[in-house]
Amino acid sequence: MTTSTSRPSAPPADHRLDVGADLGSLKARFPLLAREIDGAPLHYLDSANTSQKPVDVIEAMDHFTTTSYAPINRSAYRLAAEATDAFEAARARVARFVNAGNPDEIVFTKNATEALNVVAQSWGGAHLGAGDVVLLTHMEHHANIVPWHIMATRQGIELRWIPLTTDGQLDLTDLDHLLDGAKVFAFSAMSNVLGTINPVADLCAAAHTAGALAVVDACQYVPHNVTDVQAWDADFAAFSSHKMCGPSGIGALWGRAELLDATPPFLGGGNMIADVRVDGYTPAPVPAKFEAGTPPIVEAIGFGAAVDFLNGVGMERVHAHERQLTAYALDTLTDRFGDEIRVHGPTNPTERGGMLSFEFRDLHPHDVSQVLDQRNVCVRAGHHCAKPLMRVLGAAATVRASWYLYNDRCDIDAMADALDSASDIFGLPTPRT
Ligand SMILES: Cc1ncc(COP(=O)(O)O)c(C=O)c1O
Repeated sequence: MTTSTSRPSAPPADHRLDVGADLGSLKARFPLLAREIDGAPLHYLDSANTSQKPVDVIEAMDHFTTTSYAPINRSAYRLAAEATDAFEAARARVARFVNAGNPDEIVFTKNATEALNVVAQSWGGAHLGAGDVVLLTHMEHHANIVPWHIMATRQGIELRWIPLTTDGQLDLTDLDHLLDGAKVFAFSAMSNVLGTINPVADLCAAAHTAGALAVVDACQYVPHNVTDVQAWDADFAAFSSHKMCGPSGIGALWGRAELLDATPPFLGGGNMIADVRVDGYTPAPVPAKFEAGTPPIVEAIGFGAAVDFLNGVGMERVHAHERQLTAYALDTLTDRFGDEIRVHGPTNPTERGGMLSFEFRDLHPHDVSQVLDQRNVCVRAGHHCAKPLMRVLGAAATVRASWYLYNDRCDIDAMADALDSASDIFGLPTPRT
């Protein structure tokens, strides 16, 4: 649909990002990060969980809501056409961000979890049967495990697992054997616990050589790296807006057009049909086929604004900034705490993304996170929705600190200082320096 009337102008220019020079100044674009608690600044180190939102995204959503909000794909009046155009423009932006072949290969979902369920339950429901093999890895998030367990229960598929090396990499020694006869190889591009960045293109190639589909959980990868799903030669990829400066409530499934065409709908209802009769229905073409009901309209606008924002910064710069912080964090924690801190995952910062999961002395991760919170350092403690991995690590929980483009060395220093205070509070001797 197109509109012929004049449109409300875009948000004023001074709301737009000028990040030409200094990545450090980015913090100021995130209103929440200016917040103080008990008169002290906040150190938000939980972006692998969910990211903060720049003013650019907040105002794009606000602007759309106050000037252009209307139903999409349904009503014929101009305002509705305008909202539909904006929604589809957001889809096109997200598609370009991951270099999808065309915008219709992007399905808006509730989040990455729903995207992976569409693949497992809808594609898998139509194409997998008893005894068919799906290969997973021990570093998967529950979002890329439980949907396949559901399929194992429902359809009798067999799950195989790639083990890990001691430094938190995939142990690919038996890959060919594990892939032998597999129909699907589903793996994360980057671990949400270890930070390990996997060789996605190689894994996709191995899957295809074995005749399997390559399903990439790209939830931790897309927010922090230049992503090119075509260069990966993947078949499906899933990611979430809320981890990449966009709003919660929306995510994306990218799939090859012919695979999405061959996948039955996930949910039924309005918006996803071409026809409904008393004796059945005809689904709408992709992507509407997978977008039953009223979609997250304002959230899609925010998602589009988030990718504009990230493009404005430049994903190479985001990645380089995070890598520097990772190296700094590894050095700082090792220098200050030596053997008293056990960091999981690769020790080389070039092999991992912007997060560290660790155990500190004999303190329970929840205690550590509570003490850190008293210093306004926000980290996650727990199993990180990766219980099989936790069993491999021999830990019930870890502390995970994760950073993004808005973090700086002060945040890492604040965490290290707060770890010192944890030792004091629990009456432990000062760690060796
Ligand atoms: C690797 C990975 N996959 C999938 C998910 C699920 O994302 P969401 O909760 O947005 O669906 C997460 C969330 O932490 C994740 O880290």
